[in-house]
Amino acid sequence: MDLISSELNQCLRQASGKTLWLVDENIQLSLSARQDIDVIGNRFDVIERLEASGWQAQFSDFDLSECPNGEYDQVLYRVSKEKPVVHYLISGASRLLKPGGTLTLLGEKGEGIRTYVRKAATCLGSERQEQKLGGDSWRADIVRAKQTGECPPDQDYTELRPACEDTRQQYFSKPGLFGWNKIDRGSAFLIEQLPEMLGQSLPLTGSVLDLGCGFGYLALNACGAESTLVCTDNNAAALKACRYNLDQAGLNAQVLASDAGDQVSGTFQTLLCNPPFHSGFAVDGDLTDRFLKAAQRLLDRNGTACFVVNQHIPLERKAQGLFRDIQLHADNGQFKLVRLRHPLTP
Ligand SMILES: C[S@@+](CC[C@H](N)C(=O)[O-])C[C@H]1O[C@@H](n2cnc3c(N)ncnc32)[C@H](O)[C@@H]1O
Repeated sequence: MDLISSELNQCLRQASGKTLWLVDENIQLSLSARQDIDVIGNRFDVIERLEASGWQAQFSDFDLSECPNGEYDQVLYRVSKEKPVVHYLISGASRLLKPGGTLTLLGEKGEGIRTYVRKAATCLGSERQEQKLGGDSWRADIVRAKQTGECPPDQDYTELRPACEDTRQQYFSKPGLFGWNKIDRGSAFLIEQLPEMLGQSLPLTGSVLDLGCGFGYLALNACGAESTLVCTDNNAAALKACRYNLDQAGLNAQVLASDAGDQVSGTFQTLLCNPPFHSGFAVDGDLTDRFLKAAQRLLDRNGTACFVVNQHIPLERKAQGLFRDIQLHADNGQFKLVRLRHPLTP
């Protein structure tokens, strides 16, 4: 277990009084559930795992509106990858903590922990107590003063906004979703090649699954009124943005939270996927395998799954044993498109 995870476990074990744990990705737990600790997180897979082991955890885009102001003794938070999320949660903690309550921040130097701690101290109006855990890992405890100060700007974290556009449309999105303000170049390549890859023109008819939908780019460009569409992601901000974009485009779709499709049932004629390969701060090869297994389970016997991945991901090799027909459709030097057909019975 890494230094930050073991410190976080220690903090959770020792927590007393009313405690809130804000949980993002990348946690390793070695303690049994504490039902007296409130938990809020924005990753469905993380929350699902916590609930399965007895924690009472809430899945949302860090919606703090139900938490009572000024009543918490402690807020625990291992900082997220994205600045607006961290700023938003520091401000949130300042509002939720009672005077004398403590915000405990954990993170690595390269993630900006020391700057966040400085900003949190200004926001909570008090001195910070920092502790180097070893290597580049830090822990800081910041006590909320009676008089709080200026909190760091969170770029209106909770709000959807026009985030990017192409010649076809404008996409709404928000911080909290990795790469929220740009069109993924791999996904654009997949859309460009999709008619040729499938041998049919767009918009697609029949059932379509967008697995790891983000703000809905693939579904929005591939589907129309004739498509029966399901979009799924593990990230609460992504689901919020996807729902909004599909509604704006007038597309009828089910948008649901899942861990690599685990809440999706039925089978689909077309499956579109640009799988993640990062989990938290680390590259996670296992995620690709899980997305491929989901595709095997959810693809109709006569359906087609279209994947786009970075060139270095051995998708064709990983798909062996899961599909009978595996075709490299195109490779532009950075991304490759792989077409999968005839899922083998698991
Ligand atoms: C490379 S992005 C692609 C997003 C979108 N399809 C697009 O083309 O712009 C991968 C997506 O997978 C989602 N994701 C990551 N881990 C996941 C998991 N365990 N289950 C479901 N979705 C996940 C991420 O939140 C992200 O939206």
